[in-house]
Amino acid sequence: MKKGFTIWLTGYSGSGKTTIASALNKELVNRNISCEILDGDVIRQYLSRGLTFSKEDRCENIMRIGFVAELLSRHGVVVIVSAISPYRSAREAVRNRIADFIEVYAKCPINVCEERDVKGLYKKARAGLVNNFTGISDPYEEPLNPEVVCETDTQLINESVESILGYLVKTGLLSVK
Ligand code: ADX
Repeated sequence: MKKGFTIWLTGYSGSGKTTIASALNKELVNRNISCEILDGDVIRQYLSRGLTFSKEDRCENIMRIGFVAELLSRHGVVVIVSAISPYRSAREAVRNRIADFIEVYAKCPINVCEERDVKGLYKKARAGLVNNFTGISDPYEEPLNPEVVCETDTQLINESVESILGYLVKTGLLSVK
């Protein structure tokens, strides 16, 4: 059985987490690695349905995602999580539970995420139609020591993916790039 691990993408809404997750997933699947993506938006439709965006519920969401990620990665799956996960303490809690945890910061200035506004949620947040919106009316605590930083406002998607793959090879989690 191949060794599993968890790649945890954190960053603002619209920072590119989901895009990187699916591009990375594709690269790993091409190498015959069994992978699973746990995406915040999807998780909130199933495993975390009904949770709000309060600090307490966001942390609950992260703990649930972390729980599944740990189970899967312990059984040889490479798990790619993509969730805002704005609180350092929640990210540290899951890091402490998962043997091989790679925190990837999808770093993008909030104004760029807001300009992209892929889901139209920044506009709604500015209009007061969405409360507790990360970066607008709710905090985001930047990672202090992430394993990888992807500057998604200046990097191409494949450059971000390459930097993650490079880290995995460097640390022996992946044998070939
Ligand atoms: S987390 O904070 O609990 O990690 P998660 O990644 O699951 O968040 O969900 C974030 C997604 O929910 C965003 O990409 C966006 O589509 C949607 N969303 C709806 N309301 C909010 C909000 N108030 N703040 C952030 N994202 C929100």
